[in-house]
Parts: sequence; structure tokens; C-alpha cells
Amino acid sequence: MRGKVSEILIKATEEGYAVGAFNTSNLEFSQGIIRAAKVLKRPCIIQVTPSSIKYAGAKNIGAIVQSVINNESGEASIGFHLDHGKTFEDVVVAVEEIGMDSVMIDASTENLENNIAITKKVVEYAHKHNVTVQAELGRVPVTSRDGRTVDWDKAMTNPKEARRLIEETGADALAVGIGNAHGFFKEREVPDWKRLEKIKELIPNTPLIMHGASDWGKAKVKEAVARGIVCFNVDTDIRLAFINALCGQTMPKCDFTDPRKALGVAREAITGKVVEKIEMFKNAVISR
Ligand code: G3H
Ligand code: 13P
Ligand code: ZN
Repeated sequence: MRGKVSEILIKATEEGYAVGAFNTSNLEFSQGIIRAAKVLKRPCIIQVTPSSIKYAGAKNIGAIVQSVINNESGEASIGFHLDHGKTFEDVVVAVEEIGMDSVMIDASTENLENNIAITKKVVEYAHKHNVTVQAELGRVPVTSRDGRTVDWDKAMTNPKEARRLIEETGADALAVGIGNAHGFFKEREVPDWKRLEKIKELIPNTPLIMHGASDWGKAKVKEAVARGIVCFNVDTDIRLAFINALCGQTMPKCDFTDPRKALGVAREAITGKVVEKIEMFKNAVISR
């Protein structure tokens, strides 16, 4: 049996379009994201990182997201995913305490042998629970952690190693590095399209995920989808939409006593931004 995330990614692969995976850590982000999918009647993935689990509490964030999915998604299909799980324990919490239907194990900072060993252990465990697994190979740099100078040749995914990782671990999806970076960041001037084509050629049946997609516009998204990307991860851009709307309500003077006034406006800003992204990813459809 497959979970929703896997169904969403496989359908997108078969039909040649892409979806978005959006990060949440609270009620307002969860509603903001899921309301966008509902309005558009389009599939989307909602995801939580270990640091957001730490912030909100596993049971709390799990219950909030599940409840918003159950009550507010209408006809939209919504997958619930662990983003950037770092350890086997992160995965166990996601599966057993939260009930996510898909997990990422990001062992991309390890060497290939260790990445394979960690990912394989996670896949064996997750598949027993009908949970699918996204692996990562090649680094997708993080603005705040890695600064602005990246040795892209070292950081990007090696296609042959990607095939080995997928074949030896049985992972269901792969996060790739072709010059993409987390945050609003100086990405590689031109993404390494040839590298993406080679990855797709060597693992044609594995859905490919693009992390760090907040600053990817229409043209680059289309090129990426044409070469096999089926899911774009967006966090920074919706955080900014939320914060800008919040600041618009509270600056220069915070002269109200009902926080729902500001939070409601910020939540709507997320919906607006997610609508924009879902449509851009869907419209990058390729003809077969
Ligand atoms: O890809 C990572 C997220 O955009 C940020 O992760 O929740 O640990 O800040 P975080
Ligand atoms: P951004 O920082 O570009 O939003 O990337 C988000 C991401 O990759 C989450 O996994
Ligand atoms: Zn990411």
C-alpha cells in the first residue's frame, strides 16, 4: 500500500506536471497551505522538519496538520511528509508519533557508503509501515549555514552514485542538487541541466525532488519539469509572505489587542503565495 505523497508524486510523473511541498510549523501555516490546495482542487504536500517538530511538539503539530487536512482540504489530495529527517529516530517519531505517510532521510552530508547504509535502514523500517522514503544525494546548500561560496562541482549530485543509492536502498524518491540552494541565495548561475538529464536517464522511475525552490521562477521551473522534476520544495518564500503581512499589520504601531487580526491576514498571505506556486508548478506541464 502506498501513502498519499507517493500517489501524488507518481501521478505527477505519469502526467508530466509538478507539485509543491510546503513547510508548516503551526496552525496558520497549515491552514494557509491547505486552503490554497482546496481552492485550486490540486494535490499538494505539507511537510514538517525536525526543528519544527521540536518547536511545536510531535503530537501537537501532528494533530494540527491532520485535523486541517481532514477538515479543510475539500477535494484536494494532501500528502503529509517529514522534511529533512536527519536520524533514524526522527523517522520513528514521524511514523509512530505523528503518522506521516512519507519521510525524507537526509544523509547527504555523509559519504556515499554511510548515506546508503542510513537510507537503507530507514527504507526497511518505513516500508514495513507503508511509508515511502525520499533520499538525498549531493548537497543543497543552506544560506544561513553555508555562506555564499559553494564549490558546486563538489556539491551537486553525481548521477551514477544516485543510481547506486536508489538501487541499493530501495528509496522511493530522490532530492537532487543541480545548483539549487535553500533560502534566497546565490544559486549556481545556470542549473546543471545536463546533470539532471543524466540522473533522470539512470533512474527513470524515481520521482525527482527540487529543494530550495523558493526563488525558482516560471522559466527555470519549466526547464526542470521537462527534465523530470515532479516536486518543488518551498519554505522561505511562504515564511516571507507571512512575516511581511504580519509586519504590515503591526508596524509602525501595534495598537490592537486581538492577535487573530494580524495572524488572519498573514495566513491569507500564505494562501495567496501557495496558490501562485501550485499554479506555476502545474502549468509547467510537459507534453509526451
Ligand atoms: O529545508 C529546510 C527548511 O526550509 C528549513 O528548515 O525548519 O529546520 O528551519 P528548518
Ligand atoms: P527554500 O529555502 O528555497 O524555501 O527551500 C525549502 C526546502 O527545500 C525545504 O525542504
Ligand atoms: Zn530542503
